[in-house]
Amino acid sequence: MKGVILAGGTGTRLWPLTKILNKHLIPVGKYPMIYYAIDKMRSAGIVDILIVTGKQSAGLFTDLLGSGKELRVKITYKIQEEAGGIAQALMTAEDFVQPHEKFIVLLGDNLFDESLIKMVNDFSNQEKGAKVFLKQVDDPRRYGVPVIDGNKIIQIEEKPSDPKSSYSVTGIYMYHGSVFEVIKRIKPSNRGELEITDVNNVYASEGTLTFNIMNGWWIDAGTFESLHEANVMLKDFKGET
Ligand code: G1P
Repeated sequence: MKGVILAGGTGTRLWPLTKILNKHLIPVGKYPMIYYAIDKMRSAGIVDILIVTGKQSAGLFTDLLGSGKELRVKITYKIQEEAGGIAQALMTAEDFVQPHEKFIVLLGDNLFDESLIKMVNDFSNQEKGAKVFLKQVDDPRRYGVPVIDGNKIIQIEEKPSDPKSSYSVTGIYMYHGSVFEVIKRIKPSNRGELEITDVNNVYASEGTLTFNIMNGWWIDAGTFESLHEANVMLKDFKGET
C-alpha cells in the first residue's frame, strides 16, 4: 500500500514561526514534524510515500529527506501550487496511485501514539468506500465530527457548534484510487476550499464510510498550545528515525 502525507498549508495559526518555514519542518522533540508521519507509515509497512507541499520551503523538504533512503522509505514530491484545501492537495496524488489501488493519507501535523497497522489491515479487507480514524476529544467543535450509526458514519459535520458525538475525525484517512473522481465532483466550501469532509460525506451518504477508534493520544499540532503539548509528548521519542 502507498501513503500520502499532506504537508502544505500556510500555518497561519503558528505565525510568525511559519512566516518563512513550512509548519511540517518545525521541530517537535528531536525531529522536524514531518518525520513522525513518515515513521508511522514505515512502521505499518508503507514505504512508498508521496509528500505534497507548497512552493514555500519545498527545497528544504528535499534537502532534509532526499530520496528517503536514510529513513528507509521511497519519497516522491508534489507541489500544491496554492493553498486550496486538503482535498485539493490530495488531488495532486492522482497519478501516484492507480485507480484500483488503496492508500492512506496523513495530515502531516497530526501527531499520535497508536500504530496504523490495524487500520491498514482492516481497510485491506474493505471492498469499497473509505475509512477514517476517530478520537474521543474534549472539544469536538474544533474538528470534523461524525454522526455515527452502528459501525458506519452517516455524516460528518465540520466544526459544528452543536456536535452530535464526542469524536473528532482525525487527519488519518484511507481511500481507494476512485477518490479522485469524488474530489472532481465536490464544490469549494464557503471558505473557498475543497474540503476533505465533503469528500468523506460522499462515502458517508453511500453507507461506505467506516471508522476505527484511536485509543492513544492524538494532537493536531497546528496551534502554539497543541505544538507545545506535542513537544512534551514526543520529547523522548526514539523511533527508527
Ligand atoms: C481538518 C479537517 C477536520 C479534521 C482536522 C484534523 O481541519 O477539516 O475535519 O478534524 O483536520 O486535524 P483543519 O485542521 O484543517 O481545520
